[in-house]
Amino acid sequence: MNVDRPRRLRRDGVRSLVSETELRATDLIAPVFVDATTDERVPIESMPGHERVPVHDAVARVEEVLSTGVEAVMLFGIPESKDDEGSRAWAEDGVVQRATRAIGAETDAAVIADVCLCEYTDHGHCGVLEPDAREEPTLTVDNDATLDRLARTAVSQAEAGADVVAPSSMTDGMVGAIRAALDDAGFEDVAIMSYAAKYESAFYGPFRDAADGAPAFGDRRHYQMDPANGREALREVRLDVEQGADVLMVKPGLPYLDVVSAVRREFDRPVAAYNVSGEYAMLHAAAEKGWLDLDAVARESLLALKRAGADVIVTYFAERIAADR
Ligand code: PBG
Repeated sequence: MNVDRPRRLRRDGVRSLVSETELRATDLIAPVFVDATTDERVPIESMPGHERVPVHDAVARVEEVLSTGVEAVMLFGIPESKDDEGSRAWAEDGVVQRATRAIGAETDAAVIADVCLCEYTDHGHCGVLEPDAREEPTLTVDNDATLDRLARTAVSQAEAGADVVAPSSMTDGMVGAIRAALDDAGFEDVAIMSYAAKYESAFYGPFRDAADGAPAFGDRRHYQMDPANGREALREVRLDVEQGADVLMVKPGLPYLDVVSAVRREFDRPVAAYNVSGEYAMLHAAAEKGWLDLDAVARESLLALKRAGADVIVTYFAERIAADR
């Protein structure tokens, strides 16, 4: 019988020769939660294996990451206090700024700082509120008033030594405002990894516990994208490219592989995918029940993101997968 036989290439030895995609430790970014309200590490219940670490322990935490071969961390901060505009986000002695200085002084890690206000505002939204936000919860955040705060936050992180800033608030114009402010302050070499297509997703639940950033009222539907929309992601990404984004992020990851793939095809900049907290938590929960093999499904998930077109993956599995290679 003369059939084409793809199975010939699946034999041991041959199989790896023809494999199209590879997971490398250096493609992964490990999120780290730095908490100004604690003196010791606090486990995050919904994200097994992850902890909020105090500032004085941030260097040790990053060294653990580096020891696995992962070279980049993404810092999220839990500030000592919150207010209505999120002013601890751009404080010179803010939690991320202090941690960034220490990590820069003592390690070779690439530091990527999250630029958002939701962990810093007392209402938990990603920007400053419209005056009648509580009565009209479909229009909560004042877009343009937020831009200036995001820009200040990014500049303060760059001053502390961040290599990359990663704006995640889905504020229209954020990339342009941040690029201009960084350049004005002399930080032309600090890159922007933009959360270009970030969806209003239920998969962020565990992160909001971890970072204490859940909205106190309403939701994020008028600034994060509608999960129903695919074409709109290309519009969002195009705007960020025009404004100077260096790396284009799609978030969440696995449920949005079509978007990762479309962004890869359409644009010539590195694409990042964020394998979010809910993706991590659900695999852990199933593994705990003995229903899934955690290492295998974690590896397969990240490989799928690479196959879809991600160059870089932000993932809570970073250390586990890197250490296991
Ligand atoms: C917002 C931000 C969020 C995540 C990263 N940055 C939460 C949100 O938009 O509500 C979620 C990450 C995850 O779920 O792992 N600053």
